[in-house]
This record gives sequence, C-alpha cells and structure tokens, in this order.
Amino acid sequence: MLIAGNWKMNGLSPALGEVEALVRELKARPVAANVLVCPPATLVSRVAAAASGIIAVGGQDCHPQPSGAFTGDISAEMVRDAGGSWVIVGHSERRQYHGETNTLVAAKASAGWRAGLGVIVCIGETEAERLAGQEEEVVDRQLAASIPDAAGASPTAVAYEPVWAIGTGRTPTTEDIARMHAHLRSQLTKRFGSGARMIPILYGGSVNPRNAKEILAVPEVGGALVGGASLKAADFLAIIHAAPVGS
Ligand code: 13P
Repeated sequence: MLIAGNWKMNGLSPALGEVEALVRELKARPVAANVLVCPPATLVSRVAAAASGIIAVGGQDCHPQPSGAFTGDISAEMVRDAGGSWVIVGHSERRQYHGETNTLVAAKASAGWRAGLGVIVCIGETEAERLAGQEEEVVDRQLAASIPDAAGASPTAVAYEPVWAIGTGRTPTTEDIARMHAHLRSQLTKRFGSGARMIPILYGGSVNPRNAKEILAVPEVGGALVGGASLKAADFLAIIHAAPVGS
C-alpha cells in the first residue's frame, strides 16, 4: 500500500519539523505501507535529507522536457536530483488552474519515467459529471489519454480523486469507491494485461484520520493520496497506521 501526502502550496521551513516527527515515529513503530511526502519544490531536497530513507519524497508536478527555457518550471530530472523518487502528474488543480490537458499530463508522466521516478497520475470527475452519471466515461477518457502505454512496465500509480471530494470534507460512499476502483482495475487490466497488477489505485479526496481505515479497507484501494491531513505528522501518521496490516 502507498500512503502519499500532497502538501500542495503549503510549507515553509518549520514544516520540516513535521517530517522529522513523522520519521521519528515511523522508526519507532515501522509500518508495512510505503510512505511518500510530496512537499512544494522548494522543500524537496530538505525533506529528502530529513527522510533518512524511512519515507520517500516526491514532486507535485514536472515539465515534459529535461531542461530548457521554461521559466518557473521544474523538470523530472530536477525532482530526482533533489532527492525525489516520485512525481505527481495531472492533479485536478493543475488541470483546472493551469489548463493541463490529458496530452500534456501523458508527456509529464513519460518525463517522470525518463528521469527514473515513479509517477502518480491523477484522474477524477467533477461534481457535475458525477451528477450526470458520467463519472466512468470521464475517468476512462482520462485513463486512456493521460497514461502512456509505458505505464504497464514502469513504476506507476493511479490516483482516483473525485474533484468534488478534494478539500471539501465530503467523500464518496465506500460502495461508490469500491465500484469505481473495480472499474478502474478492469480498465487497467484490459489495457496493460498482467502489468496492471503492479499499478496501485490510490483514493484521494478528504481522507482523514477518521475515515482512513474504512476507505483503505475497500477492495482495490491500494493506498491514499492525502492533501490537508498530510500536513500534520499526527494526522498523517494516524492515516498511515490505518492501512491494513501487511499491506
Ligand atoms: P484533501 O485531502 O485536502 O481533500 O486533498 C486531496 C488531494 O487533492 C490530494 O492530492
């Protein structure tokens, strides 16, 4: 199981204290789950130094090119160079606020693998799409167009994050999560065959210490992508410890 924290645009130097607390606690009480923290780019190298190999560190985005005249952007190679081993691509906030298309997300995923990173590709429907009963159609389109063929043979995770559940305190029912994750699993298997088994499907959207146990126990939920509740070590630890034993 992969429990990943996405700090989004949060975190100044004092936030390193949260990472230190997390690492200290995980050293004292090891877990089977893989733990990943994706801080803002400014903190990747310092979080990596504090992680002492106990947790993995990742970026929240990368540019498709390895280097060049792209002011303000960060390449996958730079994430790797700073000590990252994962990168998130296609988060709905990037799709929404930066106009990222499926094609661009796919190029970013390929860049992540090129740099030797694991890639978390985010997908998920808006509330209007769910109300219209189109959630499967929407994620199918996103899966098909934002995940390159190489995913079957490269370190990859898919994060199902319904947009309406992000930062709202609302989550789908466990039945809805189960239905969607089973659907995604069958789509991945159709496309990647046995390679699909290596692709965990994370759930993201208002995961917190109170609902984590129930969500992480849903079949085909291979972990969580946690926003707000990953910012405090105590909350994030409670979610990590909610992962089923041995997962
Ligand atoms: P919240 O956990 O704050 O709802 O955010 C989820 C998310 O977008 C993680 O990528």
